[in-house]
Formats: sequence, structure tokens, C-alpha cells
Amino acid sequence: MAVNADGVRAPYVIVLFGATGDLSRRKLLPGLLRLTQAGLLPEARIVGTSLEEMDTEEFVRRAHDACQEFGRCDMSSEAWQRFASVLSYVSQSKGPEELAEAVHKAEADLGADGDVRFLHYLSVPPKAALSVIHQLDEAGLVDRSRVVMEKPFGTDLESAVALNRELHQVFDEEQIFRIDHFLGKEAAQNILAFRFANGLFEPIWNRNFIQHVQIDVPETLGLEGRTSFYETTGAYRDMVVTHLMQVLAFMAMEPPTSLAPGPISDEKLKVFRSMKPIEPHDVVRGQYSGYRGKEEVAEYSDTETFIALRIEIDNWRWAGVPFFLRTGKKLAEGARIISIAFKEPPLSMFPAGSNAGMQGPDHLTFDLADQSRMSLSFYGKRPGPGMQLEKLSMQFATHETASATGVLEAYERLILDAMRGDHTLFTTADGIETLWEKSIPLLQSPPPVRAYAPGSWGPNAIHQLVAPHAWRLPFERSWRDPNSVGQ
Ligand code: BG6
Repeated sequence: MAVNADGVRAPYVIVLFGATGDLSRRKLLPGLLRLTQAGLLPEARIVGTSLEEMDTEEFVRRAHDACQEFGRCDMSSEAWQRFASVLSYVSQSKGPEELAEAVHKAEADLGADGDVRFLHYLSVPPKAALSVIHQLDEAGLVDRSRVVMEKPFGTDLESAVALNRELHQVFDEEQIFRIDHFLGKEAAQNILAFRFANGLFEPIWNRNFIQHVQIDVPETLGLEGRTSFYETTGAYRDMVVTHLMQVLAFMAMEPPTSLAPGPISDEKLKVFRSMKPIEPHDVVRGQYSGYRGKEEVAEYSDTETFIALRIEIDNWRWAGVPFFLRTGKKLAEGARIISIAFKEPPLSMFPAGSNAGMQGPDHLTFDLADQSRMSLSFYGKRPGPGMQLEKLSMQFATHETASATGVLEAYERLILDAMRGDHTLFTTADGIETLWEKSIPLLQSPPPVRAYAPGSWGPNAIHQLVAPHAWRLPFERSWRDPNSVGQ
């Protein structure tokens, strides 16, 4: 069987459920186009399906508009035609037989005599996921298949266990890829490279040297057409129990015995198991003023559009080191950072007024933006007479390197990995169930939501939550612009 440079077994029929939805438009269709043009997805057919009635021509037109708006590819007519020719559409409401017929037609087009594999991408709301799984079963599309599932995986422990149980009636765990796109971000994987490929930081990556950690993902966006999904989800289920916890696991885990999926999942699971249950008094929930006035929002909605929490990991490496997590909609700035504050020196011999320690502790900061960056801040002497100190930093940006153009967008990377059968950057049923288990105290008695003004950093109570430390954002000093001299 043909294997391309990245090891994808070709050919593939990709069945995209929710093909006309927001995620497909913004990420999946443009991502598939990019993979095709980059030669990473050589032989494939893409069958789009959703509840909407339309023909292939209409679907191709919509896919074109989506790739035009959100993609970063060659959209010349010749290049587009090559991609358009692999697309087809069948409405999901036509039932399993027609779905099977469309998929087998695409398979026949590939002319590969039983060698074809199927990748079912379920970009559908959580309540629709199981019915798609059963539809695939009825359509006889389980063998030779892999299935990619979008979060949230359940809404609490009970529903997650039930979902996994039902899923396993149709698909083996090996066939299931639970996607968390934060793990597909180059910058998230760089945490592993940084931690485990260097001798410099590993010795100080623990409670003896680290004072606290912040994982801060404020967003300026509101809900833009996703209100009804969000009203039943909220920031904790949408962002924390998913993305922020996965990033935390990369930050906090022990070195895996190898970079293979099993050992990495084992170490992540140990982090989740070591977490203390999340208590309501360690959580601030917020709701931006004006949320309740929106259509599709209950009059007295208790959904949080903001959350900040303190997590403790009760193991030898991290005992006593708080991890503060924050995320929310309509906040002052959009950012995705991990900030590690190091312990301060035991004594200071610098004279009063020298500024020693006045700008907080030394920090190592990872910026998980698409153009990822890292910085290490420390005190240094300000040139001139006397002993005046100031905070300086060493900074590194991926986009300054020669390989910057090779960066794959998170979904592109993960679609490719699922086709290669590589589970390394996917989440596991055990991991997710453990996180829900640790969430029980919070979910059973959530603290009341507090109002915050759109454009702020959340409710005032966030400051008590981190005291005696302070939130790192907004930054006191902005990132250095590599193109401007003299900074
Ligand atoms: C999604 C959440 O999974 O992640 C959204 O559902 C959130 O609410 C988004 O805005 C953030 O992802 P990114 O990659 O834009 O930081």
C-alpha cells in the first residue's frame, strides 16, 4: 500500500459530518485543502454530509467560499478545480443507505480495490454524536474506519461514562480519536520539546523552584452564532475541562518512557489522578453584562462566560504549587499564555529603592499563539551609576526561524495524525472521565456567577483568588518586536 512522506496510508474517503457548520467552514475544509496542496493528502475523496438539503454543486460552492475566506491556499481556478473534484455531498436526512452509497461511490472513484480506509469526522453537537455513530453502524461503515470526535465528551462523569460505553459498542478504542485542538498547536507540542529535550530546565521544574503557574486564555470574542451551544455548555465545559487541562497535563507530567501515545497518556492520566477535587471556593465564575439579554439565553441563565480557578496537584513534584487557570469571553485582550513564576531569592542585599523584586518574580512564559513565542524574564542592572535593577527578558519567536512556513494549523496536524493512526495528541476516555470525577464538587455546587463588564479582565474576585500573587496579564511589558531595533 502507498505511504506518502508523512506515513498516511492512502487512499482515504473522508466523511465530514456537520460539513456546513462553523468548524467545517473555518477550519476543516480550508485545512483539508491545505493538506491536499501541500501533498500530504495525496489520494482522497471527501464526502460532506449535514442535515441541510443541497446537491454537490451547492456544497462545492459553499466550500469554495469558506476556503476563500478562512484558508491560506492557492485559490486559482486550476488549483481549486483539483480540490473541488474530490468533493461530494449527501444529506444526512436521506438515511444510512444513501450515506453508504455516497461513500462507496467515492471509494470506487479511488479505484483501489478494498484498500481504501474511511475517516469519519464528527463535527456535530454533542447530543448528535451518538446518532451519527449508530448511523455509521447501520450504514456498514465501521470496518476500515477511524472516527474523530469533537469535545465536549459528556457534560459530567455519568454522561461521559455512558457516552464511552455506547461508543465502544460500535467502535474499538483504537479507532476513536477524541480531538482537542489545543494539543495540535505547534506551541503546545513545543512544551514537550522544551521540557524533555533540554537539560537546562528539567532540574528546576518542580516545587523547589517554581512558585506558581498560570494558564491564561482570555478571549475578546463573544459567542458569534454559538449561543445556543454555549448556553448549555459554559466556559468550564467548553474550555477548562478540555483545552486548559490538556495543556496543564503537558506542563505538569513526568517524563514519559517514550514519546509514544501509550506512555504520554499514562503520564497525563497520572496528573489528572493527582489533582485535588475542584472545590467551589477555589473557583470564580463570571457572566458578562448583557449575556442574559441575548436571544437563546434563559432569563436568569446561570451559564458562566468566564471562569478562573485554582488547581492543586498533589504529588511529589507539585505539592504546594498552585496552578491558576482563567478563560472567558468578551475580555480585554485575546491571549493564550502559560506563565511560570519562579521562587524569589531567599535574601536581598540590594539597597532600598534599587527596584529588586519590585516587578514580580522571574518568569518563563509560553505564548501558545499561532505565531508562538517564549520568554524568560529576570532582573539585571540598569547601565549607569549606582545599582538600579530592571526586568529584562530573553525572547524567542517561532516565526523568526527558517522553518516558520512549515507550521501546520492545529486541525491540519490532527487530521493527518488520525489518518496515520497516531493517538499521541488525542485524549483518552480514562483521562476525560478522571477530569469529570475531579469536577464533581464544582459541578454539584457551582458558586454563583458574578457580573463583569465586557472588555474587562473578569469579576473583581479573581484578584483574591490568586493573592498573594498577581495575574500576569495584562503584561507590564509587551513582547519585543523583532523588527524594531533598540528595544
Ligand atoms: C474552542 C471553543 O474549542 O476553542 C471556543 O469551543 C474557543 O469557545 C476556541 O473560542 C479557542 O480556540 P483557539 O484555537 O482560537 O484559541
